[in-house]
Amino acid sequence: MSFKEGFYWGGATAANQCEGAWNEDGRGPAETDMLTAGSNHSPRMLTYQMPDGTTGAIPRTGGKLPEGAKLAVLDGYYYPNHDGIDFYHHYKEDIALMAEMGFTMFRMSISWSRIFPRGDEIEPNQKGIEFYRNVFKELKKYNIEPLVTLHHFDTPLYLEENYDGWNNRKTIEFFDRYAKVCFEEYKGLVKYWLTFNEINNTVMFLELFGDKATKEGYQRAYQQLHYQFIASAHAVKMAHAIDPDYHVGCMICGITFYPGTSDPKDILLNRHAWEKNIFYCGDVQSKGKYPTFAKRLWKEQDVQLDITKQDEQDLMEGCVDFYTFSYYMSTVVTTHAIEDKVGGNFSMGAKNPYLKYSDWGWAFDPEGLKYYLEMIYDRYEKPLMVVENGLGAVDKVEEDGSIHDDYRIEYMRDHIKEMGNAIDNGVDLIAYTSWGCIDLVSAGTGEMKKRYGMIYVDKDDEGNGTFERRKKDSFEWYKKVIQSNGKII
Ligand code: BG6
Repeated sequence: MSFKEGFYWGGATAANQCEGAWNEDGRGPAETDMLTAGSNHSPRMLTYQMPDGTTGAIPRTGGKLPEGAKLAVLDGYYYPNHDGIDFYHHYKEDIALMAEMGFTMFRMSISWSRIFPRGDEIEPNQKGIEFYRNVFKELKKYNIEPLVTLHHFDTPLYLEENYDGWNNRKTIEFFDRYAKVCFEEYKGLVKYWLTFNEINNTVMFLELFGDKATKEGYQRAYQQLHYQFIASAHAVKMAHAIDPDYHVGCMICGITFYPGTSDPKDILLNRHAWEKNIFYCGDVQSKGKYPTFAKRLWKEQDVQLDITKQDEQDLMEGCVDFYTFSYYMSTVVTTHAIEDKVGGNFSMGAKNPYLKYSDWGWAFDPEGLKYYLEMIYDRYEKPLMVVENGLGAVDKVEEDGSIHDDYRIEYMRDHIKEMGNAIDNGVDLIAYTSWGCIDLVSAGTGEMKKRYGMIYVDKDDEGNGTFERRKKDSFEWYKKVIQSNGKII
């Protein structure tokens, strides 16, 4: 297998799911702090308060806040992101463990509201800036390259409530200011940046959560995306001006779509699924302009975009340097009646009889990763990174404290093998950071028991636990993979 010399091996996390310390050292809240824990079958809830003091909770997906309600943290509810896995206070220990595994890259995100607690301030919060500087310095000590996401599901709540967040063009300005501060402060400590995590979710998930796939829902989603594309393009331009050594990438939720039958209608539906869900964002961010099929998509939903000549120029001048994506599963689309539907969180479509599924309904499809890599490289010819991949599973701690997660090893081994095959076929893949290298709070369900890590964290779904870290079997296995640069898997 041909992983090149210098291929980056590592793991990935996101601030809102691991840092904790949600209100420490001047950090402001984000919507993720108002989310309770859910499960595979019950949604996470957003809690709120009315001006008259009455309180309540609505499902994150499909819920509608009553008029005048404000999101609020309430007594009697448990909010798993508040303490995450307390990376804020454990980062030295965690980075030492990552170094022991041989990581050469660590993907993490900056919490915007740690740097600008409300989002619209002129001056940043120095304590927030110091925290990330310390983390980056610690990584440098072990020669681990940070890969830093600027936005991972956590716009400051104040911007959402007072400016209507990404529905407002003004939010671009606030993001510009935030990105500029990061690029200036961390010059020399960071080389690789990502702008928006899984930017394509905005449109892709509309249909998954059916109730939002309305005319109004599409209008808002496409407009939000447009403003994020502009913010991302500004960030790319700014980063290059601040440090020519900076490389900035996009981040797409990568799902491989297959047609359910050979009916030409299914083949067309499948092409359209790729266009809408995957290529729409990748094309704009990689090629600097909207693809031809965008006009069809807007027409289908009667979308009228606020897009200026300056926007068009900004997009062209802010093409990303590399393309990154998450990959967990493939899915099947069909125009025919679906007999066996996939259950579970964040998963869609018909069940594929040729694949196995995780306890959370995610299809195990390593060849789908090779398919995706080859398809995308052929389209953009830019370096690629797989920045999320892994198996969310329930782990059992044995009496002697060991954790035998051979299912995770099998999942990762098979995906790494297919990455090697894609490289052999000419794909310029330069990094692999497996998701949740250390257990963290699930974004979809808020659970701890959906674990991805090679490092176990002692915390349960009710928030009990010591936060003690433990090595799973996959820890030693991954160490060998990295040592051998992917030859021993
Ligand atoms: C990706 C996100 O969608 O999938 C992560 O970027 C998330 O934030 C990951 O944690 C896995 O999803 P989940 O729901 O299992 O946490």
